[in-house]
Amino acid sequence: MSPSGQDGRRAPSSGHTARYRPGAVPASADGRLHSDVFARNAPPLIAALAPFLGGRTGAVLEIGCGTGQHAAAFALAFPGLCWVPSDPDPIHRASAAAWAAHLRAPPHPPLDIDAAAAWPDQPQVAALGPLSGVFAGNVTHIAPFAVTEGLIAGAGQRLARGGLLMIYGPFIQAGRMIGAGNAAFDERLRAENPAWGLRDTDRITELAAAAGLEEAALIAMPANNRLLIHRKPPAA
Ligand SMILES: C[S@@+](CC[C@H](N)C(=O)[O-])C[C@H]1O[C@@H](n2cnc3c(N)ncnc32)[C@H](O)[C@@H]1O
Repeated sequence: MSPSGQDGRRAPSSGHTARYRPGAVPASADGRLHSDVFARNAPPLIAALAPFLGGRTGAVLEIGCGTGQHAAAFALAFPGLCWVPSDPDPIHRASAAAWAAHLRAPPHPPLDIDAAAAWPDQPQVAALGPLSGVFAGNVTHIAPFAVTEGLIAGAGQRLARGGLLMIYGPFIQAGRMIGAGNAAFDERLRAENPAWGLRDTDRITELAAAAGLEEAALIAMPANNRLLIHRKPPAA
């Protein structure tokens, strides 16, 4: 669980969150933060998700939404879905709300979720009903492994039958580092925080299986990233 700040709000759960703060990244007067990787990541991600999310309805919970740029773009790209952003950092949640308003995306108040905590029991999560999807982009490598474990176990609990867990980012694939850039990035992350680092796709699939999810797709994405999709099996 994240520690509480003096103002009673939970503090960001990792030093990484400070990278998106006004001053560290450009910010608009209405609270929108701007991540430079968004423009590179979003179009290929939408294209890769479309076969899985196009025509789907229900709520998709995004864990670790950061600036909220992806959340607003996905909400517009997949209008049948109720895209619900979440982040433990209040500045990120404010940015996500501001992006939805700015782009006139269907607004859903961003939720305060720490994926390493018992988030499936939170009343705001339960209120969403069985989830059509859970999405986390660029989170698993830049947070302690407990976040990956909590993300996957929670998805197993909260996904509807046929619901999808979608995890995007840089990974080690079946024990093999994919590219020199990822190897250097992994080293930098571990030097900054020994609890961080790229996760292995096989470990993700093991955790998913333990949570009752089956592998649906492992998609190679630009810049040596991967999109991992696991599904809660439909009823027999
Ligand atoms: C690298 S950013 C990715 C943001 C966004 N998904 C993207 O791709 O641009 C990682 C995000 O994970 C969030 N995060 C850190 N610890 C977390 C935790 N314990 N539970 C949920 N999110 C967390 C941070 O606040 C941050 O917004």
